Amino acid sequence: MSGTDHATSYFTEDTSVEAVLARAAAPDNPRLAEVMRSAVTHLHAVVKEVEPTYEEWMAAIRFLTGTGQMCDDKRQEYILLSDVLGVSMLVDAINTRRPSGATENTVLGPFHVEGAPDLAMGETISQDGKGEPLVVTGRVMDVAGRPVEGAVIDTWQTSHDGFYDLQQAEQPENNLRGIFRTGADGRFSYRSVKPSYYPIPDDGPVGQLLHGLGRGNIRPAHLHYIVSAPGFETVTTHIFVHDDPYLDSDAVFGVKQSLIREFVRHDDPARAAEFGVEAPFWTVETDFVLTPAG
Ligand code: BEZ
Ligand code: FE
Repeated sequence: MSGTDHATSYFTEDTSVEAVLARAAAPDNPRLAEVMRSAVTHLHAVVKEVEPTYEEWMAAIRFLTGTGQMCDDKRQEYILLSDVLGVSMLVDAINTRRPSGATENTVLGPFHVEGAPDLAMGETISQDGKGEPLVVTGRVMDVAGRPVEGAVIDTWQTSHDGFYDLQQAEQPENNLRGIFRTGADGRFSYRSVKPSYYPIPDDGPVGQLLHGLGRGNIRPAHLHYIVSAPGFETVTTHIFVHDDPYLDSDAVFGVKQSLIREFVRHDDPARAAEFGVEAPFWTVETDFVLTPAG
């Protein structure tokens, strides 16, 4: 190599990854360097495979810009992007590997709010009474089947026609949200209404992406839960309605076989009266099995 020949250290199509990685050979933050090494390697591989035109690359920049511009304290378009690309569920799977029999996690979603009303067992979370009544019963247990006392069950769901309270001005505040605490037997029960499948927001860049790919934006009907108890790992999960038409095409990949529950319809008015609801009504039973913390 002559004194003026630096060819091996300059950027070329062939050496692009090495050229970029060499700049961070002595990182202050080794984990950041490890993550970026992988990100740059894969990103360059995508660009080399796709060979974007300038116009296509600018479209990608506009997409990411628009995604950021859609974010505020009520809307997080980047999380939605992560959800529809399956990344939220993948990060969740990696961080919540549990023994078989333990309740599996699924995606949190953007509609949880802190400070839902504390309710007594058997109470209803429906404040407007709209929809077909649903009675939910179950137990919180450890992996050995022993009841967990003092478990906190934070639940939220859509209305009968597929909207969270945050999305509809006519719903009362905290409609279809509630927090319950198990007693010594680990059991819980509450009343609600049967939820519907619903669309995730499609009025931003993520919606354009889904439509451009011919993908749907519907989530199958579900009830959300965060179940926590001292000494146990917190579970963030849903249960899904067994015959929902969108179970196989959830826009955010949240469905797991172990989370599908049979929702049973009842038409008997006497039975309904026992539960303090009107016929027709629905019941569903679900247990939550917690693993020890750590
Ligand atoms: C939800 O289940 O509430 C949800 C999850 C991901 C994206 C949008 C909504
Ligand atoms: Fe949801």
